[in-house]
Amino acid sequence: MSAKPLIIAIDGPAGAGKSTTARRVAEVLGYIYIDTGAMYRAVSLSALRSSCALTNEALGLLAEASDIRLEPSDGAQKVLLNGEDVSLAIRQADVTAIVSQVSAFSSVRKALVKRQRQIGEGGGVVMDGRDIGSVVFPHAEVKVFLVADTDERVRRRLLEAQTRGEQITEDDVRQQIISRDEYDSNRAESPLIKASGAVEIDTTTCTIDEQVQTILDLVRSYQTTHSIVSAHLGF
Ligand code: DC
Repeated sequence: MSAKPLIIAIDGPAGAGKSTTARRVAEVLGYIYIDTGAMYRAVSLSALRSSCALTNEALGLLAEASDIRLEPSDGAQKVLLNGEDVSLAIRQADVTAIVSQVSAFSSVRKALVKRQRQIGEGGGVVMDGRDIGSVVFPHAEVKVFLVADTDERVRRRLLEAQTRGEQITEDDVRQQIISRDEYDSNRAESPLIKASGAVEIDTTTCTIDEQVQTILDLVRSYQTTHSIVSAHLGF
């Protein structure tokens, strides 16, 4: 009998290693990977392009009307906004500068959380973000909270930006990360918190392989425990 497809929630601050780890875990398990930060970034890009007022009502309508799709592509994830590939555009500094503000609006969260639940409700999904284990799927079978030292997170984000060819200094990256963490953690709507039942993993000195293995061990342990319980109950 094949194991029940699970919901795996991975939350944490910027640069903690969520996306790479979540994508690899999904690959190993044959699950769908959903980067919910990319969805908030896509709405932010759409707002910039349409000069949308940064108000709850206007952004909510924009989020509802935006067709955002996440597709696997060459070991990465392609982000389509109304059919256009915006994978690179959503990582640029102008989007990063407003995404925390845009994602703090309740109307935007309502529209995107609804879609995230539709995608993940059947299980077989690894979803990363800030509120997956606390709000989107509080009943997720496996919940992980990834953290890392600020210096290490800055180093990773700087490397990513340089790989994309961006001209950005280490100080700028540090400033962005610190202010985004503060904003994301202190907003009224679904702030970044370690969800109840989440296992915290400090990735400061871990390799990606080690992070992936730790999460796969949590998955196996969940599956083993629950198959034993099911067998006892005669399911
Ligand atoms: O993971 P990221 O850095 O691409 O996320 C961009 C922003 O989106 C982040 O600063 C906060 C917001 N976000 C959120 O509020 N809730 C999520 N589930 C995912 C991201």
